[in-house]
Amino acid sequence: MSVGFVQAAYIVAAILFIMSLAGLSKHETAKAGCWYGIVGMTIALIATIFGPSTEGQLWILIAMAIGAVIGIRKALKVEMTEMPELVAILHSFVGLAAVLVGFNSFGLHEVADIPANLDEAARAVFLSEQAVLANIHNVEVFLGIFIGAVTFTGSVVAFGKLSGKINSKALMLPHRHKLNLAALVVSALLMIAFLNNPENIFPILLMTAIALAFGWHLVASIGGADMPVVVSMLNSYSGWAAAAAGFMLNNDLLIVTGALVGSSGAILSYIMCKAMNRSFISVIAGGFGNDPVVTSDEEQGEHRETTAEEAAELLKNASSVIITPGYGMAVAQAQYPVAELTQKLRERGVNVRFGIHPVAGRLPGHMNVLLAEAKVPYDVVLEMDEINDDFEDTDVVLVIGANDTVNPAAMEDPNSPIAGMPVLEVWKAQNVIVFKRSMAVGYAGVQNPLFFKENTQMLFGDAKERVNDILTALN
Ligand code: TAP
Repeated sequence: MSVGFVQAAYIVAAILFIMSLAGLSKHETAKAGCWYGIVGMTIALIATIFGPSTEGQLWILIAMAIGAVIGIRKALKVEMTEMPELVAILHSFVGLAAVLVGFNSFGLHEVADIPANLDEAARAVFLSEQAVLANIHNVEVFLGIFIGAVTFTGSVVAFGKLSGKINSKALMLPHRHKLNLAALVVSALLMIAFLNNPENIFPILLMTAIALAFGWHLVASIGGADMPVVVSMLNSYSGWAAAAAGFMLNNDLLIVTGALVGSSGAILSYIMCKAMNRSFISVIAGGFGNDPVVTSDEEQGEHRETTAEEAAELLKNASSVIITPGYGMAVAQAQYPVAELTQKLRERGVNVRFGIHPVAGRLPGHMNVLLAEAKVPYDVVLEMDEINDDFEDTDVVLVIGANDTVNPAAMEDPNSPIAGMPVLEVWKAQNVIVFKRSMAVGYAGVQNPLFFKENTQMLFGDAKERVNDILTALN
């Protein structure tokens, strides 16, 4: 394939990637967005593998076949609720790839031969230009390895926290911000040392060790409540790592793709920070400014329990109902009976709507996808800001497997780890029924005073079974 053909294919692929991102931003066009991405990536792969250089094609194809088998198996097996951890571990591969590309590119900068017919002055200019190009290459190698290493260990920790293999509480080492700052300063000094003596690999090795520890520490010091932002932030880092690899490999499409992923991840992180009332800088700097908080373990009082029959009775007499689903609805796969309940109540003339918190579940849009899957009409599914003022005039709220997203402590307790995060103000309704299996805490690991309020009743058990029980009682 000629260079011109490859360049043209890269431009088409880059346009398809942009169309893919645009498509993914709306429900209705998301499927088309996926297809644009798939077609773009296929074109990019064919152009890269069968491009002007034919070296190592067989190896690439073998590696791709092995990767594809593992990837397809994983993707077929993964539960929707495990998606964020899968995404996190995939980000770690991008980071690792950037580190490997960096080491592979170390010392590989090709120096052009000095043209024969140059006079003294032109020769000096030529040599200084070559030195600048070599320096640029070395900076690319250094930064590529640094960003890649931070992304790699950061993503591994995120994977551990999301899958429950590592405690999701924030690690609070003494002087942790100073440690982070020291890691950055020492890395900058190592870069200067490396640029002064690019033959010496020691500064690169030391920086890699520091960057690996830095990435680990950065994500370890972020608490469970901020994990959604961390996942999208690592998405952004993985994009920058890919862009850095693109610079090292002189591959324009990899630079463009990396920059698209890097900037869209950064925009998503910013939007999520705003939705959760978190400082963007504080989260990306590893919880900077989040000083250790005292969580109040004080006695909350007694909770009241109810039964599916009593809940059905309450629903029969209600004229307005709001359902606020959370992660537990996904675990129980309760969206189908919830959709059926919605339909039944609407047939009886009850005004049923859904209130969706921006970080309900374990990935952005998690609840919307589940409800759409169960064919709940879009127009009764409202965002938190659209519905929060309506709880006061609501007869019954069904909190189905949600916990942190309906926790009044976010508004009432300034010491809570989720203080300041906007929540669905369900407790303002006449009656609140909470579906969960026990009195256990939610993802952020904090107690929920909602469960002890006068107007709250707990309906214990698996959410799907309990909603089915209510359906039976209604019939
Ligand atoms: P959580 O606060 O995690 O609470 C879910 C509740 O569901 C738990 O208290 C659990 O209680 C209950 N549950 C689990 N399985 C159940 C089942 N089979 N039947 C009934 N109940 C069940 O969920 P949330 O309110 O959706 O909040 C989301 C949390 O995840 C936030 O802290 C958010 O920051 C974090 N997070 C979000 C994301 C994104 S992007 N959305 C990503 C990572 C983390 P029991 O164990 O007692 O049943």
